Amino acid sequence: MQVLPKGIRHLPGFLDREKQEALVENIRAIVADAPFFVPVMPRTGKPMSVRMTNCGSLGWVTDRDRGYRYQPQHPVTGRSWPVIPEILLDLWRTVSGSAKLPEACLVNFYTDDARMGLHQDRDEKDLEAPVVSVSLGDTCLFRVGGRERTDRTLSFKLSSGDVVVLGGEGRLAFHGVDKIYPNTSMLLKNGGRINLTLRRVTV
Ligand code: SIN
Ligand code: FE2
Repeated sequence: MQVLPKGIRHLPGFLDREKQEALVENIRAIVADAPFFVPVMPRTGKPMSVRMTNCGSLGWVTDRDRGYRYQPQHPVTGRSWPVIPEILLDLWRTVSGSAKLPEACLVNFYTDDARMGLHQDRDEKDLEAPVVSVSLGDTCLFRVGGRERTDRTLSFKLSSGDVVVLGGEGRLAFHGVDKIYPNTSMLLKNGGRINLTLRRVTV
């Protein structure tokens, strides 16, 4: 096993199959209420390859004119986001080391050819609480580095049920998803990968 950068924790198989299935059911209900939308890059308006939705009191959204931000309503339906499932709040209490609860849970859906470029999660006012992320479905190749874009990076696979915590010195680590390995999990009937990212937004 390679040594991960300080503040980055990889917890392989943290959620057992039963919890993963329960979570998929929760996500189906979330998506029925808050459908996936197509996130587009600020300024250029270029669509990202993932599809997104959220649960929690705040959701992360992006569009050409207003850029990256958190807001209490779905950008298309105008409705409040559904609540964060209890399984995820439990997970947060177990691994975050934060007394505050997460306000946002971003749901990213990756088809076989989707990816996520190297970026920092820095739209939150609170940078004390960690970012906690859960992988479901197909395996991906995850890349993580340091606080500068030019810092050396390393990559490792994330499988269904794995949890990653970016906390402390790792809170602002650059990270991204280089590729999805199709047909590596039977969890999602139609394949693909779901990533759930829990964050505290306000201080
Ligand atoms: C993200 O950084 O928004 C997603 C990370 C992942 O899909 O594992
Ligand atoms: Fe991220």
